[in-house]
Amino acid sequence: MHLLELKKITRIIGNCVANNNISMHIVRGEVHAILGENGAGKSTLMKIIYGEHRSDPGGEIFLNGVKTDIASPAHAIELGIGMVYQHFRLIRPFTVLQNIILGIEPKNIFGLIDYKKARADIKKIIDTYGFDVDLDQKIEDATVGTQQRVEIIKTLYRNAEIIILDEPTAVLTPQEILDFYRIIKNLKGQGKTIIIVTHKLHEIKTIADRCTILRKGEYISTLDVSVTSEEELARVMVGRNVNLKVSKTPPTLDGEIVFEIKNVTVFGNKNTPVVKDFSLSLKRGEITGLAGIDGNGQSELVQAITGLRKIKTGSVLINKMNITNLTPKEIYQNKLGSIPEDRQRVGLVMDFKIKENFVLQTIDDKPFSNYGFILNRELTNFSNQLIERFDIRPTDSELEASKLSGGNQQKVILAREIFHNPDVLIAFQPTRGLDVGAIEYIHSELIKLRDQGKAVLLISYELDEIINLSDNIAVIHDGKLWAELDQEKIKKSTSLKEDLGLFMAGGRPV
Ligand SMILES: Nc1ncnc2c1ncn2[C@@H]1O[C@H](COP(=O)(O)OP(=O)(O)OP(=O)(O)O)[C@@H](O)[C@H]1O
Ligand SMILES: [Mg+2]
Repeated sequence: MHLLELKKITRIIGNCVANNNISMHIVRGEVHAILGENGAGKSTLMKIIYGEHRSDPGGEIFLNGVKTDIASPAHAIELGIGMVYQHFRLIRPFTVLQNIILGIEPKNIFGLIDYKKARADIKKIIDTYGFDVDLDQKIEDATVGTQQRVEIIKTLYRNAEIIILDEPTAVLTPQEILDFYRIIKNLKGQGKTIIIVTHKLHEIKTIADRCTILRKGEYISTLDVSVTSEEELARVMVGRNVNLKVSKTPPTLDGEIVFEIKNVTVFGNKNTPVVKDFSLSLKRGEITGLAGIDGNGQSELVQAITGLRKIKTGSVLINKMNITNLTPKEIYQNKLGSIPEDRQRVGLVMDFKIKENFVLQTIDDKPFSNYGFILNRELTNFSNQLIERFDIRPTDSELEASKLSGGNQQKVILAREIFHNPDVLIAFQPTRGLDVGAIEYIHSELIKLRDQGKAVLLISYELDEIINLSDNIAVIHDGKLWAELDQEKIKKSTSLKEDLGLFMAGGRPV
């Protein structure tokens, strides 16, 4: 008898078959990875286990051998199933402690919230699993890593035995990821069962016991991770061989400078400088990687460059044209494209259709508008081209962005920005949440842009991505340009990754 057994789970949404007749089981105490391309149906399946969606008729769920109808998330929690969504659902002005007990606050005999008891109970959980959190910190001041820990503690506080995590490490920095792996190990050590959706093959190798692969809504197979290579996982998932290494030729040297950030200072939300006298130049035909630990000013720098935050002092030039503090639209018209960090708030209008999202900044221009009339046929043709080229699924340009899977939302932004043919592309974590096949494609598109003589600024927390793609690497630390490595230096370095790690932490190699 298995802890959890799914039989013939099906979910059809509109004319999309998100899950098709999926049967699988979860063993008590295992870490079970769920792998599949963007839109394969992973999140949908997880939401069915968590009671947020129901299977269509014919699908059944057995918990400890008993057929169970999981009616709602509240019911799932009662049954010992917890879930951490990719977009956290915490109350920002509340403290960590208040968020953990929210909705099930222990009361004292006077009917008041018994904070002492709550604190003691949470303390027990924290000590058992080795969480690092400050219970009195407000969520709005907490890092993404902390917020995630709070979400996990929340499930444990509600006595979850099965914990579902949907792409938990997509939002974490490399340092936070290591801590996350440690927590997973401890959870497993205490007999908890973990179901984890992830696109990262090395992560599956590191923490998972078994891995179930979905493709286009269907169950493909469940593999024993210890005897399966990353290449094999990728092949089963995509249905073809995937090139896991980036292949690129050296850049054409002597590109002229096309983009300049000159002594830029930007203030953060607390009205103190977070980008400090920062300067960087980008050349045509080169990808420049900006490495750094999350929270060292990269978000504010990019917001300032793209017109979303004020530049206090300094200037930004594209093709020698001063674009400092212009509006986002003006900046875009000056051929600066950007893949923003926050897709759902800045990158997309979630309740607009895919095709409308493709032309957010250009709808008033030819060929889509003529004397104020929107030319729908032009727009549909254009959209279909992008959808095909970037393999956006489903292929219906009339669908609202909110109905796309996470990875496909990301592809809509990438398609729009790359197709706009910018002279300079600012790419903030461009492959976050994408499956390996899509990553391979996006990397090749970025290299193509470079080879057409464009400049790319790649901001990523993944050092491997920076090292694989970049021709030059800059390091940002404490809002300052901390180090710059040109092609020569990169080629000569025998310990590039270690050196970069040291720079990112604010050190200097001896
Ligand atoms: N409300 C909806 N209306 C229409 N289609 C939907 C809706 N919700 C989900 N879908 C479709 O169901 C399919 C599966 O989506 P799901 O979010 O489960 O994918 P996923 O495997 O989690 O992908 P990703 O890796 O990109 O997060 C997708 O094709 C998606 O567009
Ligand atoms: Mg998903």
